[in-house]
Amino acid sequence: MGTPAYVYDAETIRANYRALKAAIGDLPHEICYSVKCNSNYSILRLLHGLGVGVDIVSGGELYRSLRAGFDPSSVVFSGVGKTREELRNAIKSGVGLINVESDGELQSLISVAEDLKKTVDYGLRVNPDVTAEAHPYTSTGHGAAKFGVALADVADIVASAQASGSVRLRSVGVHIGSQITDPGPYARAVEKIVAVAAMLREKDALTLDCIGIGGGFGIGYAGKVGMDLEALFSLIREPLKASGLKVLMEPGRSIVGSSGFLVSSVLYCKRSGGTNFAILDAAMNDLLRPSLYQAEHGLSVLQPVGSEEKEWDFVGPVCESGDFLALGRTLSGVAPGALVAIEQAGAYGFSMSSHYNSRRRPAEVLLDGERFAVIRTRDEFAEIVTNEVVDLEWENRD
Ligand SMILES: Cc1ncc(COP(=O)(O)O)c(C=O)c1O
Repeated sequence: MGTPAYVYDAETIRANYRALKAAIGDLPHEICYSVKCNSNYSILRLLHGLGVGVDIVSGGELYRSLRAGFDPSSVVFSGVGKTREELRNAIKSGVGLINVESDGELQSLISVAEDLKKTVDYGLRVNPDVTAEAHPYTSTGHGAAKFGVALADVADIVASAQASGSVRLRSVGVHIGSQITDPGPYARAVEKIVAVAAMLREKDALTLDCIGIGGGFGIGYAGKVGMDLEALFSLIREPLKASGLKVLMEPGRSIVGSSGFLVSSVLYCKRSGGTNFAILDAAMNDLLRPSLYQAEHGLSVLQPVGSEEKEWDFVGPVCESGDFLALGRTLSGVAPGALVAIEQAGAYGFSMSSHYNSRRRPAEVLLDGERFAVIRTRDEFAEIVTNEVVDLEWENRD
């Protein structure tokens, strides 16, 4: 398929899933894979085969999930700003649970449900005001974040909805952020959400039967250590069990992140301003995380050219100084024609890619033991412009 190309290993995805299941143990639970982190059809099919549900955040992700064969009842619709059209389609499709994040959104849900003469199961995402160490852009559980409803508002919001016969509270939950490696903030968030659930049940919210702990379990990027899932669940298992509710979780990265590699060729090498630059054929449009979050991914040389060892900045061809994939890496075998793999690229890699600089998004390949298959071909140039209108009526009028 040439380069750049994403390559995913199916067995790593299965192993990550098994490791999570082992850590969860005997806690009654349901795993809803967070589609946003890698939404390729074949990856969704693989996960469907493992028996997970899905957590989605848009009408597009609903479309993808149903297309991949997920039963609508196994779909949880999350996200801070669902449109009435998205709510309507979700209800009509029979989505299992709609998580709302504000009173306004709940009122929209009630009104759409009334229009459709349906009773809809909803969950309330609560902002537990817990700070977890993560990049500011992926930290979502602190009080100043746009996500969830404030703890102090929960009782009133639920009470106002209870008067309507069109919605039924099934779940309260949190999602405190992404790439979190410390179990501590989860324990604090769980304590708060368990207390919220108990308070609501005391107030007769008897349809409440699930409690959400979100996703966000961190992985080991570039040789660092990810979340110790055993340690996490040994901390939160008992309070969750004691709640008597089924635990919903929405992991993404911890399932697919370590399975993926972005394979790229070194186009040119040059020295400038005291830095050795290796210019790759992959760029920020293919893998945005380093530019957006200063994320560090592992990088290894798959096919070396020569053997000289140097410190390199690996950059892309896009016209931005922020276009880099890895900085300050000491490696040998880096020269034009060498092949490198940017590691831990299975989550928020292709799904955050774009056509910036009118670049074709990369191909995607799935390995499974001795087999491999192209699961998405590289874009054609025509696909980059496919929605552009080329016959403006006022063009060339005179
Ligand atoms: C509401 C929600 N749930 C789950 C996730 C998945 O997080 P992760 O991929 O870190 O597990 C996200 C990611 O941002 C999210 O916003």
